[in-house]
Amino acid sequence: MTANVEVDPPTAPTSVPAALTHLESTDGRSFVARGPGSERPLPGDYLELDGEDGILAFVEEVADEASGAGFAATGTLVQVGSGSGSGRTADSPRHEVPVRPTRPDTVQRLLSGGDPRLHLGHLAGQESVGVALVPNRLNRHTFWCGQSGSGKTYALGVLLERILLTTRLPMVVFDPNSDFVRLHEQAVQAGAEDEHADALHDREVVILRPDDEQNPLRVRFTELTSRAKAAVLRLDPVVDRAEYNALLRLFGGDFQTVDAGQIVPYLRSLGDPDAEALAQRLENLGLTEWTRTWAFGATAVTDVIERRPAATVVDLGGYDRPEEQLTVALAVLDDLWARRTERRPLLIVVDEAHNLCPPEPETPLGVAVRDRLIQIAAEGRKYGLWLLLSTQRPSKVHPGVVSQCDNLTLMRMNSRDDLDQLASVFGFVPRGLLAQAARFRQGEALLAGGFVPMPSVVQVRGRITPQGGTDVPVPMP
Ligand SMILES: Nc1ncnc2c1ncn2[C@@H]1O[C@H](COP(=O)(O)OP(=O)(O)OP(=O)(O)O)[C@@H](O)[C@H]1O
Ligand SMILES: [Mg+2]
Repeated sequence: MTANVEVDPPTAPTSVPAALTHLESTDGRSFVARGPGSERPLPGDYLELDGEDGILAFVEEVADEASGAGFAATGTLVQVGSGSGSGRTADSPRHEVPVRPTRPDTVQRLLSGGDPRLHLGHLAGQESVGVALVPNRLNRHTFWCGQSGSGKTYALGVLLERILLTTRLPMVVFDPNSDFVRLHEQAVQAGAEDEHADALHDREVVILRPDDEQNPLRVRFTELTSRAKAAVLRLDPVVDRAEYNALLRLFGGDFQTVDAGQIVPYLRSLGDPDAEALAQRLENLGLTEWTRTWAFGATAVTDVIERRPAATVVDLGGYDRPEEQLTVALAVLDDLWARRTERRPLLIVVDEAHNLCPPEPETPLGVAVRDRLIQIAAEGRKYGLWLLLSTQRPSKVHPGVVSQCDNLTLMRMNSRDDLDQLASVFGFVPRGLLAQAARFRQGEALLAGGFVPMPSVVQVRGRITPQGGTDVPVPMP
């Protein structure tokens, strides 16, 4: 007589076909598994190794065998830790190790971590497998890329919410489209309930906008670096040496603030021809009309960031002139750089990063902003200045910045050229996963680098806070 044994219902396997039966590993780190026929695993799938508890084979590429018979799947062996994340496996060769499709709960142990608040979303196609942010690896620069409408800004908001909820890493957000100006509001979308949303209330999120009376976005001209002042005034220290010299003399640190409307009359009252020339320059460039940029006696954006609120949103989208946007960005970046040796961590988020960091800016102001960002990309990491740059194409941002990024988020991208370029810059990202980006749906993202346990294609979770600017609907009859 056989006893009725209660058995747990089997957990559904991943999409890995059973056709794969064995793998080989010559170095204990990488593997190759060959299979016949047309049913194949996909890059991003995991296999379990028979008799080796806690080791998974992560499929990175699948290619036809040269012989034309079947395929070869290649990838990396990973050790599943007790918490979130992967480790190295023992570097011992393996021959003819039997493999089988793994189960979601094993992959969960690898990707999901212990804290569901860290989940950026779930593995695409597997709702039960949350993919957790590894927050202590945000101490690197991050590149965020995807074509227009792929959901970059939305997903970036998801990440920023997770950072606010789970870390004490302050951030400043350069927001050229006013997409993050509601980061302090709660509007959990129906069906996207989040029991942790309330915790966001406790974080200080300051939204600085040019027209906001309570929290105006302003810059103190006298505190700009000499190079920044010269860039704003389009002065060359050699070609325009007399005026440049007057600028240094008259607008130094001990400059006594005069009222906004009084700068030009003040310069003229000095009876100095170089001051007169400066006055003309200010008028001709229309700088006296930038009344929503200059702080004069008021609080400047740098004063706010110096306090390190949990998030400071800098609404560059509130300005009409690109020069005003650049001036504000330069004031902030220069100030952060000047104080770098304080080593106070800050995540510097730049949406539409091509505005602030194109390969070839057209104006002296643009060059100054770009150069400062290149410097922060190259040297800021060790001072706690970490960049997160979002853009539509890798070529739209200066290569000196992109090449310094250790984390990548890639959303839908059709262009093969752009994918090739990403593959060459981000050598650590499996090509097989990059290649899937042309088929991503809105909200799907490939995340790779230390800030996630493993390179993963993720369906991002819902936002807690509303996005400022959303798509414009097509008018219908
Ligand atoms: N995962 C998502 N769930 C729901 N709505 C989304 C999601 N991702 C994007 N959207 C919506 O789709 C629209 C386009 O997304 P988003 O603004 O994030 O695109 P983008 O990649 O930043 O585009 P652009 O490069 O033009 O700025 C927005 O209205 C956004 O709210
Ligand atoms: Mg966007």
